[in-house]
Order: sequence, then structure tokens, then C-alpha cells
Amino acid sequence: MKTTLRPLPVNSVEIAKRTEQLGIDAIVAIGVEGGGHLGIDATPTFVLIPRIVDAVKIPVLAGGGIVDGRGMLAAMVLGAEGVYMGTRFIATDECPAHSTFKQAIVDADETSTAIFTGRVAICRAFKTPLVKHFVEMEKAGTADAEENAKLHRHDSRPWITGNWDEAAFPSSAAAGLIKRVASSAEVIQDMVREIDRISGKLPL
Ligand SMILES: Cc1cc2nc3c(=O)[nH]c(=O)nc-3n(C[C@H](O)[C@H](O)[C@H](O)COP(=O)(O)O)c2cc1C
Repeated sequence: MKTTLRPLPVNSVEIAKRTEQLGIDAIVAIGVEGGGHLGIDATPTFVLIPRIVDAVKIPVLAGGGIVDGRGMLAAMVLGAEGVYMGTRFIATDECPAHSTFKQAIVDADETSTAIFTGRVAICRAFKTPLVKHFVEMEKAGTADAEENAKLHRHDSRPWITGNWDEAAFPSSAAAGLIKRVASSAEVIQDMVREIDRISGKLPL
């Protein structure tokens, strides 16, 4: 299988087509609901996935705000062949992230994250003090590269040490749907069960 490094997520039809032309075997398309760096445009997953599915012939995996079975089923109805999940697997037993990070995901609601200009693209992360400060500066037009660098100065270390005030903690807008830390196996089993339950009731 031919793969490529992913400097930015595929989040537009143009990037998807160019990726296909390079001979890549499959695409991971990430909508703006996702956690972390999201690409240049803030296109929502529900718009992005069918747009890209219609534009390319290679398989498309959907990501960005998918954390459970109903999200996966919806993505597959939109034409995705599978899903790609980040935030859901942080709140798992196996993930080395600090319990502060995992608990923030469990405690989150739909207003807990913010989007802002990240290092290379739009970024979504929890509204930690640093992120809130940077978002305010962006609104006021006073944010600059130096201020942005403060968000990333420790890289991923605070995610392991749990130093909430020191960094940006990337998270999906869908963290509010994650209700518990579970094993990775339970996450997958729950998703499969949920898909079976819902798909049996769909009026198709
Ligand atoms: C804590 C965290 C760190 C991430 N780090 C990276 C990264 O280094 N490079 C990258 O391309 N994407 C990164 N992402 C984005 C994920 O690869 C993925 O696109 C995203 O998590 C999918 O959306 P979801 O979180 O709603 O599942 C990160 C996401 C999270 C939550």
C-alpha cells in the first residue's frame, strides 16, 4: 500500500484529488470537529466526507468528531469506508496521557473546545487558560507567532504530566459524547454493538 506523510489533514476536495493523483491508496479526510491540527479550511465532517467521496475513486476514511458507533454509521452512510479516531483513544486505559487530560475529555461538553490558528493550520483544543488567552488575542487582532509558540513550547509533554495551565490540550468537539475512560477493546466493542442496534432500526 502506498502511503504518504501527512503534513496536513486532507480537508478539501482539491487536496484529496491531488493526493489521489500521487498514487496514494486511501485518504483520511478530517473535518473541523476533530482535535489537533485540522488543515486550512474549517469544513465540517458532514460536508467534507460526501464532497471528497464524490470527488475521488480511492477509499476515504472519515475523521473529525467521530467517537462512537452512531458517528461511525453516519460517516459510512456519507460514503466513508471506515473511520479514523484520535480523541476517543486518548480516554482509554492504554493511552499514556495524564488522568487530568482523560478526565477533561470525560467532563467535556460541546462548548469545551476552541479553534484557533495553530502552528501550521487551524487547531482545536480544550479551553485551557493559555488557549483562552490566545483566542482572545486573535479576536483583538494582537496574536502573533511568538504568542502562538507559547501554546506549543512544551510539545506533548504536558499531555503526560497533566500540567493543564502550561499548554494546549488537543481535543475533538465531540469529547462531550465520551462518558468514560475504557479499554480500547471496549471502545471498539461498544461501537460495533451500537451500530448493530441502530442499523436494525433504520427506516431504510
Ligand atoms: C492529542 C492529539 C494530538 C494530535 N496530534 C497530531 C499530530 O501530531 N499530527 C497530526 O497530523 N494530527 C494530530 N492530531 C489529529 C488526529 O490525527 C486526528 O486528525 C483527529 O484526532 C481526528 O479527530 P477526533 O479527535 O475527533 O477523532 C492530534 C489529535 C489529538 C486529539
